[in-house]
Amino acid sequence: MKKILVTGGAGYIGSHTLIELIKAGFEPVVYDNLSNSSPIAIERVEKIVGQQISFIKGDILDVELLKQTFKEHNFFAVIHFAGLKAVGESVSKPLKYYENNVTGTINLLNVMQEFACQNIIFSSSATVYGNPETLPITETAKRSCTNPYGQTKLTVEYILEDLCKSSQFNAISLRYFNPIGAYETGTIGEDPNDIPNNLMPYISQVAVGKLEKLSVFGDDYDTVDGTGVRDYIHVVDLSKGHVKALEYLVTKDGEKVGFDPVNLGTGNGTSVLELVNAFIGATGQAVPYVMTGRRAGDVASCYASCDKAKTVLNWTAEFDIKRACVDTWRWQSHNPNGYKS
Ligand code: NAD
Ligand code: UFG
Repeated sequence: MKKILVTGGAGYIGSHTLIELIKAGFEPVVYDNLSNSSPIAIERVEKIVGQQISFIKGDILDVELLKQTFKEHNFFAVIHFAGLKAVGESVSKPLKYYENNVTGTINLLNVMQEFACQNIIFSSSATVYGNPETLPITETAKRSCTNPYGQTKLTVEYILEDLCKSSQFNAISLRYFNPIGAYETGTIGEDPNDIPNNLMPYISQVAVGKLEKLSVFGDDYDTVDGTGVRDYIHVVDLSKGHVKALEYLVTKDGEKVGFDPVNLGTGNGTSVLELVNAFIGATGQAVPYVMTGRRAGDVASCYASCDKAKTVLNWTAEFDIKRACVDTWRWQSHNPNGYKS
């Protein structure tokens, strides 16, 4: 059984990925400082999979603990979710983001190199495409970023590219589009600390009565109904994409893959109003909203070309928006205060 280090494994995408890793026969070891997650998420995953999961409360800024962890385990690969992700906060506290996301990743890569673990799957983001020139976005599109969070993702991609060129490292950079939804049990899901920045958790918190109404950021974009268009992907599909990426590395074991970026999306664009209406239709809940001005830094439309994920990883998203809405609502209504419920 191949051991996989999962940094940030207690978080939203990490916790879902643990389930798919175990289902596929991998042995995850979670390394998370719990700065944006709860140990309850791990307990809930243990209940779903019916087995214990190794958990290390640790920070990727703690080099000694990273070394200790690699001394104790022989990892085939690292799935590197650990990172800070709030775009707004990254603008006001850029050093915090560069230190955590870039320095933390350099620490991890140094320790991986020292212990001859040379396979990494990195949580990148569609944000590296900035304002896309053409749609759907392919992996060869020009990269640029408009905020410090995005810069940290882009910087790590450049670091991984250089490292792969200079060594036997293999890095699959999974560029996530917009993850939504929750596991079908409704026991794990997205649990934002504060008022959500992202659309889907905002909608579900309005529906459950925690927030009064949704502000729709702009209705004058050049899109189907004037509201922003994104590629919403179910978190379970996204998690399976990580397993496919690992399996790809397993089949290539010994052979050099190098740096390989892959989009994980559905290929479909959905507007804000289409998502709101899908949620209302799928759950029967009311979602009051008002139109407000555009949010600074937002692009009109962003959706993926998923051809590479299909040909290289043999992966395609299976769940639709309706299913994601139903699953989000099950999680939100059963856990109105997230893991604090
Ligand atoms: P999340 O905040 O739920 O999970 C990240 C986890 O990393 C948390 O459990 C947090 O405690 C942990 N962490 C943060 N800094 C750490 C550190 N220094 N040491 C150890 N652990 C640390 O976020 P998520 O939505 O699950 O995202 C996972 C990854 O995917 C992140 O890197 C994020 O930037 C990236 N990503 C997310 C989205 C999205 O919309 N959710 C989109 C694109 C990319
Ligand atoms: N939106 C609203 N009201 C809200 C929140 C969002 O109208 O309260 C709109 C936005 O203007 C946008 C769409 O809903 O048109 C989606 O917004 P999100 O904030 O949910 O997602 P973004 O595409 O802006 O960004 C997200 C993450 C980024 C990541 C990017 C690509 O926040 O970190 O997806 O993966 F980089």
